Amino acid sequence: MSEGLVTAAYIGAIVLFILTLGGLSNQETARRGNYYGMAGMTIAILATIFGPGVTGNIHLIIFAMLIGGTIGIILAKKVAMTQMPELVAILHSLVGMAAVMVGYVTFMDETISFTTDVERSIHDVEIYVGVLIGAITFSGSVIAFGKLSGKIGGSPLMLPARHWLNLGLLIATIYFGYQFVHQSHTGGNAMLPLMFMTGIALLFGIHMVMAIGGADMPVVVSMLNSYSGWAAAATGFMLSNDLLIVTGALVGSSGAILSFIMCRAMNRNFIAVIAGGFGTGGGTTVTAGSDEEQGEVVQIHTDEVAGLLLDAKEVMIIPGYGMAVAQAQHTVHEITQTLRDKGINVRFGIHPVAGRMPGHMNVLLAEARVPYDIVYEMDEINDDFPDIDVSIIIGANDIVNPSAQTDPNSPIAGMPVMECWKGNITIVLKRGMATGYAGVQNPLFFKENTRMYFGDAKESLDAVLKEIL
Ligand code: TAP
Repeated sequence: MSEGLVTAAYIGAIVLFILTLGGLSNQETARRGNYYGMAGMTIAILATIFGPGVTGNIHLIIFAMLIGGTIGIILAKKVAMTQMPELVAILHSLVGMAAVMVGYVTFMDETISFTTDVERSIHDVEIYVGVLIGAITFSGSVIAFGKLSGKIGGSPLMLPARHWLNLGLLIATIYFGYQFVHQSHTGGNAMLPLMFMTGIALLFGIHMVMAIGGADMPVVVSMLNSYSGWAAAATGFMLSNDLLIVTGALVGSSGAILSFIMCRAMNRNFIAVIAGGFGTGGGTTVTAGSDEEQGEVVQIHTDEVAGLLLDAKEVMIIPGYGMAVAQAQHTVHEITQTLRDKGINVRFGIHPVAGRMPGHMNVLLAEARVPYDIVYEMDEINDDFPDIDVSIIIGANDIVNPSAQTDPNSPIAGMPVMECWKGNITIVLKRGMATGYAGVQNPLFFKENTRMYFGDAKESLDAVLKEIL
């Protein structure tokens, strides 16, 4: 393939990637967006393999791709929707690792020659920054994977003087950066400072994510997504590959915008989240009668739930992580359809961090073919609760916790929540009294107009569906 053809193919792939991002920004066009992405990636891979940049054994590349592709297909088929955030985190770690490896290989490549000192310096800085971002992304993503999968505890690790520690690591990184460029120019041992910096960056990635508590993990996941993009862009600079630079920058900047949006949704300061120490452990179980006694909960049974729904005019459904666990979205759709056929106005309210990944609930509802025009963002419907007859909370907890507004000491203090308690009656579907991801008790369950409908969300809703048909 000639260089001109490769450039044309790269431009085509870039356009397709931009169309992908455009498509993914809306549920109705998301499927098309994915197709654009697949087409763009196929073109990019083919143009790279058959382009003039690859001079070695092409069979080896195809063999490696077959192994990687097979692992990818098996993982994609096996992974449950609820494990998706962990999968994304571990995939980010691979991007980071690739950037580190490309950095070292480029550094050791003796065939690269330079005409000026400036050229050599730029090349060295590209390697140093690429390895730095890659190593932080790698170790940070591995820890994020551990936290999201529950293998590592959710509570923030608060080392004494951690800000000083971070500052020390930063200064050491700059020092070794200077040493690296200097040694490379004078023919000294530049490998040593590069290796020291890699160790520091790995430690920094671990420390950065360990210091972040449960409720702030969404921000970290999207931030690591952004880092993986910058790591790819850095790799693009090292390999002089324009497509990788542009694609990396697209991922890096869209991840950064997403992190910013998440911070705004959580009412958090971005820098404060990165500095760490917010949030507490996730998923601890407390019983109604234990340490945080808040009164009695009122239980409700299937026939009463069905009766309340059939008597209502306005119903709001608030899905959370438990709906994903129970895979209850299809039954939710059938109930919605049945109620709408009976003239009841049913709407969905989606909190920006409901579930375990951005857009988690939207994906599930779209999969179950819930009409898009009755699915609302939190900001669009949060003022409507006083007019709601029945709110159904399906496996949600933190996102409907009023203590975010009332308890300044709560780990989720200041996070905007769905104000369902302002409605006439709230029915909460969950299996027991366990806390949500942020690990805090929820006063909503003890409110006078709240009814607890205990059980697996799918089984409970199946029973309700039978009653209302
Ligand atoms: P959570 O606060 O985690 O609450 C989920 C609730 O679902 C649990 O209290 C659990 O209670 C219940 N549940 C679990 N399995 C169930 C089942 N089979 N049937 C019925 N109920 C079930 O979820 P949320 O309200 O969606 O809030 C999201 C939380 O995750 C926030 O703290 C957010 O910061 C965090 N987070 C979000 C993201 C993104 S990007 N969205 C990423 C990482 C973390 P029982 O065990 O008693 O049933």
